[in-house]
Amino acid sequence: MEKTCIIGCGAIFARHSEAVEALKEKTVLAAVCDIKKEKAIAAAEKFGCKAYFDYVKMLDEVKPTVVHVCTPHYLHFEMAAECLKRNINVVLEKPSAETYEKALKLCEIAKNSSAKVCVCFQNRYNKTSQALKTKISSGKYGKIYGARAFVTWSRDDAYYAESGWRGKMATEGGGVLINQSIHTLDLMQWVMGDVVKVEGTAVNHRFKHINDVEDTAEIALDFANGSRGIFFATVGYVKDSPIFLEIITEKAVFTLCDSLKINYADGSVETVENDRVATGEKAYWGDSHTLLISDFYSKIHDPEAFWVSPEEGAKCMRILNEVNRL
Ligand SMILES: NC(=O)c1ccc[n+]([C@@H]2O[C@H](COP(=O)([O-])OP(=O)(O)OC[C@H]3O[C@@H](n4cnc5c(N)ncnc54)[C@H](O)[C@@H]3O)[C@@H](O)[C@H]2O)c1
Repeated sequence: MEKTCIIGCGAIFARHSEAVEALKEKTVLAAVCDIKKEKAIAAAEKFGCKAYFDYVKMLDEVKPTVVHVCTPHYLHFEMAAECLKRNINVVLEKPSAETYEKALKLCEIAKNSSAKVCVCFQNRYNKTSQALKTKISSGKYGKIYGARAFVTWSRDDAYYAESGWRGKMATEGGGVLINQSIHTLDLMQWVMGDVVKVEGTAVNHRFKHINDVEDTAEIALDFANGSRGIFFATVGYVKDSPIFLEIITEKAVFTLCDSLKINYADGSVETVENDRVATGEKAYWGDSHTLLISDFYSKIHDPEAFWVSPEEGAKCMRILNEVNRL
């Protein structure tokens, strides 16, 4: 039986606590921690566990076997490293760190720990993403020509003003690229394979008065398989549109936009629907945290590292690191 603690009782906490609750036969939620005392106390009351306001004290006293890091980006590296030093497994919210250098350093620290890390790229578990990855990796569709992806979402001043850490390079590590659109960039590079060249620009069109990070970015990518990619992301749109990812191959065009549509060269069409469709205010987060977290706990004692590892987390960070900030 594992013993779980969660650090950070903010917006994403519910997805992690629900996933842990659903794993009653494998773990118990022993304690939660937030520097905002009222948040930690409310979460602890809801789940019948202990509340802490200092995560190191929680690690010392509770001695968990798994810690979920659900804090602002600038704390990911420090908290994950502290857990790994103590050989405590980590479920780490994306991004794996707020800089590429720290993301790489985390890979080294993880290698020297007997504990495992799971980076929360939960959208890799969506039925449509899995189908896309399996089909493209099969090599059955001939040459891969290229991919394009769009993330056009909406954020407002209040979203940045209320959070205290978003919109600031020092605490968020970037804007739309490292936060909102990182999942789509991850899906693109996961499916298309190694990236050999990156050229891109990141700009702040709409939030100059409040933020020092980009709200809009475009990236041109060259992949090792000889294909090309175009990536565009913004939080300056008027709504959170479904993400769009298209992959063009010799024998079919794959379009992921809610469902996955495959238009074959012979005119036939195949559609894959997601079986778990998120609804409500934060539907754009997807609904696959439970799948990812449950998979991690089921593999926690396997000899090899978990597949959504710090190395996987560092791949997107490498791409973002090469984007030119104007
Ligand atoms: N995977 C996804 O789809 C997804 C979706 C949303 C957020 N996230 C990620 O989850 C993380 C948290 O985001 P959020 O939206 O919940 O943010 P949030 O601001 O709502 O919550 C963060 C919480 O961490 C707490 N905190 C800050 N410093 C702390 C410290 N030193 N010790 C303990 N607690 C501390 C804050 O008080 C706050 O309650 C971010 O990395 C974000 O990118 C991921």
